[in-house]
Amino acid sequence: MINQSVSKELSNLKGTDYLSSSDFNSSQLKALLQLSLELKKEERRIDLGNRVLGLIFNKPSTRTRVSFQVAMARLGGQTINLDIDSSQLGRGEPMKDTARVLSRYCDALAIRTFSHSEIIDYAHWASIPVINALTDLEHPCQSLADFLTMQEVFGDLNGLKLSYVGDGNNVLHSLMLCGALFGVNVSAACPKGFEPEVSIQEKARSMALQGTSIEVFNDPFEAVDKANVIYTDVWASMGQEEEKDHRKIVFKDFVVDDRLLNHLDKEAIILHCLPAHRGEEITEKVLEGKSSRVFDQAENRLHVQQALLATLLGGL
Ligand code: CP
Ligand code: NVA
Repeated sequence: MINQSVSKELSNLKGTDYLSSSDFNSSQLKALLQLSLELKKEERRIDLGNRVLGLIFNKPSTRTRVSFQVAMARLGGQTINLDIDSSQLGRGEPMKDTARVLSRYCDALAIRTFSHSEIIDYAHWASIPVINALTDLEHPCQSLADFLTMQEVFGDLNGLKLSYVGDGNNVLHSLMLCGALFGVNVSAACPKGFEPEVSIQEKARSMALQGTSIEVFNDPFEAVDKANVIYTDVWASMGQEEEKDHRKIVFKDFVVDDRLLNHLDKEAIILHCLPAHRGEEITEKVLEGKSSRVFDQAENRLHVQQALLATLLGGL
């Protein structure tokens, strides 16, 4: 049976973009997770009827690319790869021309690139929905999967505590914004100088549901106190390869290992967006241990993106 309240809550989002974790409100985010679960449990089938999603990926990807491809296939649509090397983008055709031309062929675009302002420009020039498949500032599709995974483990998200240990990067930015809207307290521990952007911290605090805190520390043990979830990501993101060796020194005390886990409740879980660098931000033992939910989390990329595509393309 179709959940009409979920469809109603999401109906206003048809034709819109998803560029930031702050783009949808709390009720819309909750409805999107509900739709994701219905699709995951095969309680609901949505047929988008031959719609086409264009994938523009200027950085490598396994999970995001494949989960978008499979999501569109399951919705009865398809994807086309429009990478820089195989299109005129690589030969200098202006983005504003590309965005308008692709809008005449495709029904939506998922874009992974460096600068967040580039995806905002794409959304400006395109007349179809644009989805952020990761920029240097945010990774909003990842956060949807992360909070769905937490909801499956703990039930209600409201009042949970997620502690992030590592670099104040795109993944953390989206976790803070999305956590604020789900009522999940987010506490991050980052080395000095590698904290999340202050503007994102402030935005998250200003949007946060009542009683929800967004905190940043420089000490992992302080941040993980009473956490339900410990989350980490690579120390050097894509595009920061040259800083890798320096970062290994700066981040050496920000490892998710047994020492940190021993401070936690037995029910606490470990998340990582993947790919993971075992022996750097997380130990092999913790990543493969009984508290780890990283592969459920990776699977959930498929379900949340299927729900997102169905919503933006008006399949409800
Ligand atoms: N987590 C994530 O976005 O993985 P990919 O880089 O493989 O897409
Ligand atoms: N912070 C990482 C996430 C990869 C999914 C990066 O941007 O490379």
